[in-house]
Amino acid sequence: QTVSIIGAPMDYGADRRGVDMGPSAIRYAGLADGLSRAGVDPVDSGDLSIPRAEERDPDVEQPSRGTAKFLREVEDVCTRLADRVETALEDDAFPLVLGGDHSVAIGSMQGASRDADLGAVWFDAHADLNTPETSPSGNVHGMPLAAILGRGVFEELEWASAPRVQAESIAYVGLRSIDERERDLLRDSEMTAFTMADIDDRGMTSVVEDALDVATNTTDGVHISLDLDWLDPRTAPGVGTPVRGGVTYREAHAALETVSRRHETDGILRSMDVVEVNPILDEGNETATLAAELAASTFGKRIL
Ligand code: ARG
Ligand code: MN
Ligand code: MN
Ligand code: MN
Repeated sequence: QTVSIIGAPMDYGADRRGVDMGPSAIRYAGLADGLSRAGVDPVDSGDLSIPRAEERDPDVEQPSRGTAKFLREVEDVCTRLADRVETALEDDAFPLVLGGDHSVAIGSMQGASRDADLGAVWFDAHADLNTPETSPSGNVHGMPLAAILGRGVFEELEWASAPRVQAESIAYVGLRSIDERERDLLRDSEMTAFTMADIDDRGMTSVVEDALDVATNTTDGVHISLDLDWLDPRTAPGVGTPVRGGVTYREAHAALETVSRRHETDGILRSMDVVEVNPILDEGNETATLAAELAASTFGKRIL
């Protein structure tokens, strides 16, 4: 299978600058080699060209209450990204999007769900379900799932919501940081949330199996969204919003190998993004290296 690597060096959605260098760092960490060794055929389609945030006006007031910083710029990038993802799929390639902050997932999921009912597994410390009204930060990287599901003011924004993604086909794995009003949104939704406590109780493999059941139920394919802050900050220090008590190195590999095994038997995967790697905050590119390794594990790289 051909894997189309699409770089989305966007940092409009996050406060900590530097996440726009994620795609380069993940490439330098050996992504293409790792994918080849996993048995797929990587084709690098380069980066989207994205103007620097300094050239832009940060605050965009929303039609109703709330703030979403750089929302117009996020719209521009995500619209182009969605087209690139759709084109890759039409060419029978698997789109692998490199962030950039997590707002790139709006574009990757939009594009991947234009011609298919799409489920998703969201590997993240955070729920990323704030709307501009509930967000404590105004940062769009805390909002991509609200955007995709058309919650709050996103309902009015056609570029953001993806009608072929249903809340009941989305599962979180590894949650441990949720804002107060975001928690209400999550409780009132049909999404399935596996927290760190579920991983402690049941083990990673069994949790991921359940998450895949959710994401494959009545869908045509699964999107994997991998936010590197899902891991414990001691293992993945190069992220802008670290939360301690995260997934270990071994749990992370076990999780993506579980995804890979299911893909080998059932062909479930449709698209993936790997986001929030911030080389400025990293130590010796180890977070980017981990991102590259986990992508390779997803496509079948094994010890033997
Ligand atoms: N919940 C916080 C916010 O809305 C943090 C979100 C972090 N999201 C991420 N993709 N790292 O600002
Ligand atoms: Mn089409
Ligand atoms: Mn996160
Ligand atoms: Mn996230």
